[in-house]
Amino acid sequence: MNLEPVTKDNYDAVVALEVHEEQRLFVATNLKSIADAWVHRPTLQPLALLNGGELVGFTLLDRAGPDVLGIARFMIDRRAQGRGLGRKGLAAVAEVARSEGRSRLRLGVVPGNAVAHGLYAAFGFVETGEVEKGEIVMVHDLAPAHHD
Ligand SMILES: CC(C)(COP(=O)(O)OP(=O)(O)OC[C@H]1O[C@@H](n2cnc3c(N)ncnc32)[C@H](O)[C@@H]1OP(=O)(O)O)[C@@H](O)C(=O)NCCC(=O)NCCS
Repeated sequence: MNLEPVTKDNYDAVVALEVHEEQRLFVATNLKSIADAWVHRPTLQPLALLNGGELVGFTLLDRAGPDVLGIARFMIDRRAQGRGLGRKGLAAVAEVARSEGRSRLRLGVVPGNAVAHGLYAAFGFVETGEVEKGEIVMVHDLAPAHHD
């Protein structure tokens, strides 16, 4: 899984990605996320998720502080869900955080989003007990990268 910047070349395709109708309460549209990123540049970074060269999803990363990489948005297109790509996308985000020397991933999940919560818990995220803007905050501490 590769994370690539949203550019004029992939912008239309990223905006066209969509979640299932019943998932729309769980994540902003990619159009809104790209607008958020422009307003909050360079803190927020919009990235396309590519699997074997195929555009399958989108994430919005938040670098508000030095140690934590925030995952402000994360989605896999409805046609590509259920194939393990959510997990692969998270692993790619974790790799970015490690490469920047960060020790923690942080995100918020809308209550009732059982698939996302289950994915994050299986990945190693734990609830902090905080609720921010109605979302359950979860964090994942990253083991340092191995240097052989
Ligand atoms: C959450 C999301 C990113 C998961 O993406 P995905 O590519 O389907 O995830 P994966 O295929 O890696 O599956 C992850 C786990 O969820 C499970 N899962 C996936 N879709 C499921 C479904 N519809 N019902 C039940 N479980 C499901 C998988 O079985 C897997 O669990 P396992 O590893 O124990 O088998 C995707 O559903 C999505 O984009 N949802 C809408 C947006 C959203 O909620 N984003 C999160 C905002 S915090």
